[in-house]
Amino acid sequence: MGKSYNIAVIPGDGIGPEVVEQALRVLERAASIEGFEARIARFGFGAEHYLRTREIFPAAAFDEVRGHDAILLGAIGDPRVEVGLLEFGIIAKLRFELDLYVNLRPVRLYAEHLCPLKDKRPEDVDFIVVRENTEDAYAGMRGFFKQGTPDEIATQEILFTRKGTERVIRYAFELCRRRARARKLTLVDKANAVRAMDLWTRTFEEVGREYPDIARDHAYIDAATMWCVKNPEWFDTVVTSNMFGDILTDLAAMIQGGLGIAASGNLHPGRVSLFEPIHGSAPKYAGKNVASPVASIMAVQMMLDYLGEGRAARRIEETVAGLLRSRKIPSLGSDSGLSTRRVGDLVIEALEQAKVPA
Ligand code: IPM
Ligand code: MN
Repeated sequence: MGKSYNIAVIPGDGIGPEVVEQALRVLERAASIEGFEARIARFGFGAEHYLRTREIFPAAAFDEVRGHDAILLGAIGDPRVEVGLLEFGIIAKLRFELDLYVNLRPVRLYAEHLCPLKDKRPEDVDFIVVRENTEDAYAGMRGFFKQGTPDEIATQEILFTRKGTERVIRYAFELCRRRARARKLTLVDKANAVRAMDLWTRTFEEVGREYPDIARDHAYIDAATMWCVKNPEWFDTVVTSNMFGDILTDLAAMIQGGLGIAASGNLHPGRVSLFEPIHGSAPKYAGKNVASPVASIMAVQMMLDYLGEGRAARRIEETVAGLLRSRKIPSLGSDSGLSTRRVGDLVIEALEQAKVPA
């Protein structure tokens, strides 16, 4: 018998529970094929729980969650609850309190027909975004003055620290080296207008000198969105701030097939980390059994890779790629013609046959 992992699961709101259910079935099947065990503990926090109890994420439950080997989250957000309350009380709380300073977002196109860009093939869309995950405007240093009056002033600080910038840049250089592809790391910022980002420019230069094998590249965020559409093949590894990373990766998700496939890992290397699809709770599709579970399945894929179950991770990735290439899963939208559960079935059925390099 292989190892055993304790996984905390927060299915959350909207389509979260449906897509996570399929991802957990895939996890269970992958575990039985590869000979390890995944013990699941579900935590029912989110809008329903909040509306019933006025509780968002109590301290005792938070401590229990953080005691697991990894955390899998579906989606958080509900139109019946004040905007941002649950997002910050659950997702951002986990990111900040567990100090998950890397938000890793792979952008990989598995089948040409899924790409909305003309003449771009899978080899052209294969990069990874390292998004800083604990600072920037997300730190929540904000205020309203004379609220609700014609003289109202609203502020929210964009906050960068040397330590926070350096650790995520260092992570990105290491990752770029491990990927061993183009060996190019692109810093995406807006240092021409947001002069505080000069801290990023200098830190990138200084840390970069320790990585002479990695070419240092740079793009302003506005230009980076353009390159992402025009020449995605120019990117290998990208490092950027929290908010720019948030925006850039929704765009990037579209060129890899949509939010129905894009997944992310919120990491603090060596510590308990959080894995989730990039998409939100999509309330209009909730309970309809039409949302793509592939993004959650890919979140499980990233989680297994992080936990050291590389074979299981490759098996899931190969399986998903194969089903997309053969068009057995024809698309990743809610209009794919396949139910959420059917997509889960297809992945589970194909998992055993996947060719996994030893
Ligand atoms: C994401 C989401 C979150 C973010 C929201 C839900 C707060 O959009 O993970 O990309 O902005 O980070
Ligand atoms: Mn986002």
